[in-house]
Amino acid sequence: MNERLTVLVTGCDGQLGSELRKLVKSGCCSFCRFLFVDVNVLDICNRAEVHNYFKTNHVDVVVNCAAYTAVDRAESDSEAAFAVNRDGVSILAECCVEEGAFMIHVSTDYVFDGTGNVPYKESCPVNPTGIYGISKLEGEEAMRVKGVDGIIIRTAWLYSVYGHNFVKTMLRLGSEKEQVSVVADQHGTPTWAADLAVAILHILQHTDIKNAHGLEIYHYTDEGECTWYEFASAIMQMSGKSCQVIPISSDEYPASCHRPAYSVLDKTKIKERFGLDIPMWDDSLQKMLDELKLKESWR
Ligand SMILES: NC(=O)c1ccc[n+]([C@@H]2O[C@H](COP(=O)([O-])OP(=O)(O)OC[C@H]3O[C@@H](n4cnc5c(N)ncnc54)[C@H](OP(=O)(O)O)[C@@H]3O)[C@@H](O)[C@H]2O)c1
Repeated sequence: MNERLTVLVTGCDGQLGSELRKLVKSGCCSFCRFLFVDVNVLDICNRAEVHNYFKTNHVDVVVNCAAYTAVDRAESDSEAAFAVNRDGVSILAECCVEEGAFMIHVSTDYVFDGTGNVPYKESCPVNPTGIYGISKLEGEEAMRVKGVDGIIIRTAWLYSVYGHNFVKTMLRLGSEKEQVSVVADQHGTPTWAADLAVAILHILQHTDIKNAHGLEIYHYTDEGECTWYEFASAIMQMSGKSCQVIPISSDEYPASCHRPAYSVLDKTKIKERFGLDIPMWDDSLQKMLDELKLKESWR
């Protein structure tokens, strides 16, 4: 076990960063000291700022939750997507190498083209079809080029009580509309960011950080699979909304970015390496909805 590692969490105000902070606040990770920063304190695209941060703060591990995640907007705003998802990651990796820090980075199922029909393993060929996926893949490659020691965790379909996400959009539409159309020909796995945060802390605890060398890719999502239509139907049903969910095809849903039709990830490697017990997506959805209800009833 590692003793009092200093862990820098970048992009800490996003979904995953917020879940990590909540877990740390609950006291479940006392073997580490955490530094939580978002773009207002540390812009990962600002090379001088990031280098200066590493010079003035001792960092053993970076957990990079910072990202440009607006998948459709990225198609017309590619400069910003590449700045964060490729160049920012490269800067962080460069600093980690210089200071001997380990880097845990989060990537995406959108590195795959989605033409498969069995869960994607880490070794499957990548072929992103949109700017977001390309920028995330180039971030992965930048880590390799810099020679950083670390882990890339590809995940998918994240949601949380924090930030903007599909679950919150469906809850809003479910209150406003009698019916909502949702694509039924894209398969993946909804993943509660809280589960991924638990997995990251577990990995931190079960990695000999000081002696870990090389860069490994792992896939992590919740268990099971569904379509966006099935996901939306579960949200409506579990939250007691009468809004009808209508299945449509991707062709009927206008979006700037082409999304993979099948992006279920194979999690065998991460489960075997770290002994992770991963929850089913619909069990986690229920927990998130319960948490959201509690949070909103306090308002
Ligand atoms: N969301 C998904 O469905 C999904 C699916 C697969 C993979 N992932 C990956 O999972 C990771 C976590 O996703 P998430 O949903 O938690 O993302 P998120 O909620 O969008 O959070 C990203 C955070 O990064 C911040 N950020 C943006 N540019 C930055 C910069 N230059 N320097 C520092 N911070 C910056 C954002 O701030 P602002 O809000 O102010 O921009 C935000 O707080 C990301 O790597 C993402 O690519 C997400």
